[in-house]
Amino acid sequence: MRIVLAPMEGLADVHLRRLLTAQGGFDWVVSEFVRVVDHPCPDRVFQSICPELLHGGRTESGTPVRVQLLGNHLEAMAASAQRAVALGSHGIDINFGCPSKTVNRSMGGAVLLKEPDTLYRIVSAVRAALPQSVVVSAKMRLGFDDTALMLDNAAAIEAAGANELTVHARTRLQGYAPPAHWHELGRIRDHIKIPLIANGDICSVEDYHRCVAVAGTVDVMLGRGAVKLPTLARQIRANEALAMPWSTITPLLNNFWQEMCAVLPPRDCVGRVKQWVNYLRYSHPEAEILWRCIREEKSAPAMQALLLHCQHTTASLKPLAP
Ligand SMILES: Cc1cc2nc3c(=O)[nH]c(=O)nc-3n(C[C@H](O)[C@H](O)[C@H](O)COP(=O)(O)O)c2cc1C
Repeated sequence: MRIVLAPMEGLADVHLRRLLTAQGGFDWVVSEFVRVVDHPCPDRVFQSICPELLHGGRTESGTPVRVQLLGNHLEAMAASAQRAVALGSHGIDINFGCPSKTVNRSMGGAVLLKEPDTLYRIVSAVRAALPQSVVVSAKMRLGFDDTALMLDNAAAIEAAGANELTVHARTRLQGYAPPAHWHELGRIRDHIKIPLIANGDICSVEDYHRCVAVAGTVDVMLGRGAVKLPTLARQIRANEALAMPWSTITPLLNNFWQEMCAVLPPRDCVGRVKQWVNYLRYSHPEAEILWRCIREEKSAPAMQALLLHCQHTTASLKPLAP
């Protein structure tokens, strides 16, 4: 069983990656994407998107981090892959799933799913640039508008020498809206031999088992599910459905806040904490109480006070009207 923490730009940054991997259960993490245009990325770009590279390419708890590249320029992708590995990345992941219109307009991300030959060329270029001992993986969606090229895309990635394929079980057209179409992963599973990592809407131990049953793979990548339930990876491994108690989440929130305050302007810190609490509402009723208190909050000192208060007791917080 492989359990991977998903790349999530603007959400699973270095701070959240540190906190989530510290809960245990993850085999590796994929970084937010590094955009490669027509020249190799400078070291500082890699190190700012993936500061773990300054610490042996691992999060504080020792989980390896794999840099994700997004682009289509063969030489630049190959050279960037070499640079990222030289800096300490544990393998290279290639993004064929980003739905952003801006990114797709410049022929990066999910738009490449219209061209299996291009996927083949990009993965081949990156594979050829790295020693065989370095893992090259790709992450794709089921397709752009539909799944017509799904099997061709998966086969192209495998034929180009990728060691693993992660599939987010939606097309670009389906965005992020539920449901994830796990049954399509079963068709890919039957079509390729390399490990297939299932992704999309795995938010509980029960979801994991339902996904495995139809996708035919035990390997998964967890995205928003891990942000909602930070112990999800550990619980899947232990087949343990009991959620992490709220009393263990509030110190994490305070820790996250302090770390943010050291590096970001106060307004951004307030926004990032709201973003996480909003996800936590899914698995913790107490987060709903906290959410109602903070959702209109703009002041950093007030937010800090609320977070400290809820570390002692959330129940006594005075929520705004629903
Ligand atoms: C805020 C956000 C940012 C994302 N950024 C990336 C990214 O940089 N690279 C990538 O391959 N996928 C990215 N994704 C997609 C996720 O990795 C994942 O495939 C998707 O959220 C489905 O999995 P989930 O339902 O477990 O969240 C992002 C998703 C979200 C919600």
